[in-house]
Amino acid sequence: MRDNIVKPMVMSYFVEKGNFTCAGEASSKIKNKLMKLGFPSSLIRRVAIATYEAEMNLVIHSWGGVIKAEIKPDVVCISITDTGPGIPNIDKAMQEGYSTAPESIREMGFGAGMGLPNMRNCADTFNIESQKGKGTTIKMIIR
Ligand SMILES: Nc1ncnc2c1ncn2[C@@H]1O[C@H](COP(=O)(O)OP(=O)(O)OP(=O)(O)O)[C@@H](O)[C@H]1O
Ligand SMILES: [Mg+2]
Repeated sequence: MRDNIVKPMVMSYFVEKGNFTCAGEASSKIKNKLMKLGFPSSLIRRVAIATYEAEMNLVIHSWGGVIKAEIKPDVVCISITDTGPGIPNIDKAMQEGYSTAPESIREMGFGAGMGLPNMRNCADTFNIESQKGKGTTIKMIIR
């Protein structure tokens, strides 16, 4: 159980650009691990939403990246790093309803422009940094 975690437990997954077949696997594995460790359902729900939205953004918008979850007895630290293309205007991207997703992605049910705002709402601490052409890093802490 989670009280027995001595060293932080680290889960790390590579998420491939455009791979909708595997999309959701990383967030689902993190969620299952937290359930096995006996974390409260409110924390699990927030981690699951935040990591799922991050994972879909890697699949849809990035060139590929890594989701890492560091699990400690009373907190989960999540970091997401990708290799590009970066977000030119973070303030705009953080607005509810803002999306650059093309029609083909919207037809699949994505592109409401709610992923980043949802992540921020789920996290106790939310930090996003991005460099155009280089990539994006998001760090979240959920207690
Ligand atoms: N990792 C990323 N790399 C590059 N651009 C990104 C990345 N994540 C988000 N964006 C940009 O920020 C916008 C807003 O992201 P957000 O997740 O809020 O909405 P969405 O992915 O377009 O739609 P939804 O998440 O509701 O399906 C995206 O449309 C995209 O332009
Ligand atoms: Mg999104």
